[in-house]
Amino acid sequence: MDKNQQLIDKRAASKLGGGADRIERQHEKGKLTARERILLLMDEGSFQEIGMFVEHQSTAFGLDKNKFPGDGVVTGYGTIHGRPIYVFSQDFTVLGGSLSKTHADKICRVMDLAMKNGAPLIGLNDSGGARIQEGVVSLAGYADIFYRNTKASGVIPQLSVVMGPCAGGAVYSPALTDFIFMVEDTSYMFVTGPNVVKTVTHEEVSSEDLGGAKTHAEKSGVNHFTAANDVEVIKQVRDILTYMPQNSQELAPNPSQFEFSEAKNSAIKSILPDNSNLPYDMVKVLDAIIDDNSFREVHADFAKNIVVGFARLEGKTVGVIANQPSVMAGVLDIDASRKGARFVRFCDAFNIPLMVLEDVPGFLPGTEQEWNGIITHGAKLLYAFSEATVPRITVITRKAYGGAFDVMNSKSIGADFNFAWPTAEIAVMGAKGAAEIIFKREIKSSDDPAAKWTEKETEYAAEFANPYRAAERGIVDEVILPEETRSKLILAFKMLENKSESQPKRKHGNIPM
Ligand code: HXC
Repeated sequence: MDKNQQLIDKRAASKLGGGADRIERQHEKGKLTARERILLLMDEGSFQEIGMFVEHQSTAFGLDKNKFPGDGVVTGYGTIHGRPIYVFSQDFTVLGGSLSKTHADKICRVMDLAMKNGAPLIGLNDSGGARIQEGVVSLAGYADIFYRNTKASGVIPQLSVVMGPCAGGAVYSPALTDFIFMVEDTSYMFVTGPNVVKTVTHEEVSSEDLGGAKTHAEKSGVNHFTAANDVEVIKQVRDILTYMPQNSQELAPNPSQFEFSEAKNSAIKSILPDNSNLPYDMVKVLDAIIDDNSFREVHADFAKNIVVGFARLEGKTVGVIANQPSVMAGVLDIDASRKGARFVRFCDAFNIPLMVLEDVPGFLPGTEQEWNGIITHGAKLLYAFSEATVPRITVITRKAYGGAFDVMNSKSIGADFNFAWPTAEIAVMGAKGAAEIIFKREIKSSDDPAAKWTEKETEYAAEFANPYRAAERGIVDEVILPEETRSKLILAFKMLENKSESQPKRKHGNIPM
């Protein structure tokens, strides 16, 4: 046979994965194949495959007669929006995308290349887990991947897209990466599946309820981005990458074009209600400040009392962390602290400046919070901000109370600038509670305690329910009109562009885990 034709035939066989029948079954489930996914993900014509003919070396349980070129994972490199990207995509049509030692070695090879070349790694996960016939070598293969995920953390962005099963120890590779994307209805992640759960805890739960996209987006916070199907999730990944640099030594790309509707500037004035105890939507405030349609919310359905995500100011990426007064008054609780801290650390690792919008009444009280460790979890957010060396600016729109004021990127923990709106209230606590404590005796001994309390509350509010006491002490750098916020932020971030700050010499800090 013509040798060139032999190669062409071998390529065609490899591209068929587990064969036409299994491809059809994959499509029937509403899923694309590993290669179809890669072709959608990468710029047209850019994908180059590595290890197309690699096969597993196992012989147990008839595996020697069950070989597929590529061994259930397609690996390689290409470009997304013209920038180099490394990728692996598990092929469920080949032995259920199960992970053999060979399969793991292929993944490790692209991980090593991504690290050496300072380019993001994207993993498309669709696998029945460790290849059961192989036993412990496949477990070692997982560990090889986990080890590299950890080494690559903070060096290159790592994105995991879960597009099918991801169960058992296999979940720990996505968990070690920066962001997890899940597809509704076809993907699930759990350490132990419904059958084991039933045996051990007698709970009856479906795969979807135990570990589907919605569950992890809303309940556990494991999932950062949810999409309706494979095509949508790939679009999301391509889009979110435009907000990130290639690696920790670079800056995010800066699109020269951006739009900003000036009308938003006059609208920003009327977002806050007159009564400072009423809610409003902080995302509206954010949208009025940033480039049009530039906000990409991360963890949109988890701990909604804090909002985090990427946005742009005159084309430049910023990481936004904002209290959300319309959910639980924007209070900080365990989940909000974890969510905020993780995002702050991603931004700091990848040179993305932090923009904080603050309206926080404090930490959430209660036994549930205390017993579950709000002290440790709240400290995560405090630690994350304190160690961040990227440019960071806070705008206090309204409440900045108590310890939560310190935590939300205050100047004392290293923020570069703090601005406050005229509506800001910067105090140890709300006026009502403060009056009750410091004027307790006066209120009690008064003929009309209720009236006395109100009087003292008003007195305390007059003193602290404004930004000027803080401005007098330099705790706030400038009191600004809402409509000045965008221009003040743009100018301040420009001034901070060359900011250089180093950490004390140490092996690594010890973040409260
Ligand atoms: C080998 C596997 C496999 C596996 C699936 N297959 N999982 N082969 N090792 N882990 C094969 C099936 O035999 C089948 O082969 C094909 O893939 C498709 O599987 P189906 O069961 O027909 O598909 P489906 O009905 O969609 O069910 C998918 C599934 C199920 C839910 C993932 O296959 C399943 O439960 N698999 C086992 C999951 C598991 O327990 N994995 C080990 C977890 S322990 P044919 O030839 O019939 O098409 C683990 C430890 C990791 O992963 C630890 C890391 C530290």
